[in-house]
Amino acid sequence: MLVCTTVVQVVCSVFAVENEEEDEPKVCQVCGDRATGYHFNAMTCEGCKGFFRRAMKRPVNFSCPFRGVCIITKNNRRQCQACRLQKCRSIGMLKELIMSDEELGQRRRLLERRRKRAEPVILSTQQEAVIQELLNAQKKTFDISFVHFTHFRPIDRTLAPMQQYRQTCQETTTNTWPSDIQEASLPCSSSSSPCSSSSQEVKPEDSCGKDRAFTTLPHIADLSTYMIQQIISFAKMLSSFKELSIEDQISLLKGATFELCQIRFNMLFNESSGMWECGPLTYCMDDAARAGFQPHLLDPLMKFHYTLRRLHLDDSEYVLMQAIALFSPDRPGVTDSKTIDQLQEMLALTLKTYIESKRTSPKKHLLYPKIMGCLTEMRSMNEEYTKQVLQIQDIQPEVPPLMLEVFSKIT
Ligand SMILES: *[C@@H]1O[C@H](CO)[C@@H](O)[C@H](O)[C@H]1NC(C)=O
Ligand SMILES: *[C@@H]1O[C@H](CO)[C@@H](O)[C@H](O)[C@H]1NC(C)=O
Ligand SMILES: [Zn+2]
Ligand SMILES: [Zn+2]
Repeated sequence: MLVCTTVVQVVCSVFAVENEEEDEPKVCQVCGDRATGYHFNAMTCEGCKGFFRRAMKRPVNFSCPFRGVCIITKNNRRQCQACRLQKCRSIGMLKELIMSDEELGQRRRLLERRRKRAEPVILSTQQEAVIQELLNAQKKTFDISFVHFTHFRPIDRTLAPMQQYRQTCQETTTNTWPSDIQEASLPCSSSSSPCSSSSQEVKPEDSCGKDRAFTTLPHIADLSTYMIQQIISFAKMLSSFKELSIEDQISLLKGATFELCQIRFNMLFNESSGMWECGPLTYCMDDAARAGFQPHLLDPLMKFHYTLRRLHLDDSEYVLMQAIALFSPDRPGVTDSKTIDQLQEMLALTLKTYIESKRTSPKKHLLYPKIMGCLTEMRSMNEEYTKQVLQIQDIQPEVPPLMLEVFSKIT
């Protein structure tokens, strides 16, 4: 009902506007006074408009004191309400077009909402600057083609991992890699790294001895160190990070390194092959399993990488995600949580506005909550990761000092 009358009202006002543009003298069709426009479907004066509204709102049975055929004029229009109302009806005035005060209020609010929705969401200058600083910092500190990752111990995929992520490795079943390519550049499905070999259980203690249990660990440790160094440089390039106390900077980095690593690796994740393409190097989840990580971490991690990758984020969205994870006020050891909380909120709002203003898909409003869901998901894996790194270190002391420094719990 409201919708219908609103439409009629809109149509009427459109006509009214058109009429105003013509230079026709406007005369009330009820009483002949000067008309102010279309009211309730007829050209009338303000007086007859008000009369019709009052008559409809508080219905009284008018009766003509004369013979019921009064000619209504500007001067006598108050004398016979019965004939005046009769005239209103005869020229097509409609009760349905009188909106109650409540309906008028609703309509105003609706128009206000529509106006707001139609207003384009744009990033503030400050928000633009925040994104730009983050992108610059990322560009300078993320070697996405891994050209500077050179001093590392080669990856050894000779042993089958305890837990295989077959679905990720079997999709590329090529055995045709030239054998002279350096070992580290081989994807895990190559002949020298039999992902699809029989999945016999390899216990860390037996077979090749204690120090050979986690065959990819030396390489994965070097890779992690490389990533962590870049993440520290990234944080140090951000002005709001540098303004924090050194203690808080360390606490934030300790808390967020795993998450930032995963976000960066996700940018290199190929969702159709299920592998991470790091320049000349390609990794699959079996490499992490061979380094000693357990399904309790790797299963949700694999799922996380597919989920996040399928959101098809751009560089700005990825880097804002990293910043939101970095500035987490509730990391252990943080002292100035108020400032960090404000920074995180500002970053989250920037991400939300960025999505609103840049994305065009009708489902764009779902993207922000999905990204925040991924951040939460990753946080829940962080503790397990630290636990497993420390366990691996216990069995095979291959984890370099930087990683231990980052992952050691503040006590
Ligand atoms: C008006 O008249 C109608 C019948 O003509 C009657 O049913 C109704 O009760 C009357 N209303 C008032 C307010 O007098
Ligand atoms: C992802 O992997 C598929 C299958 O291995 C390959 O065809 C595709 O080129 C890769 N995509 C990118 C962007 O490298
Ligand atoms: Zn009139
Ligand atoms: Zn009359």
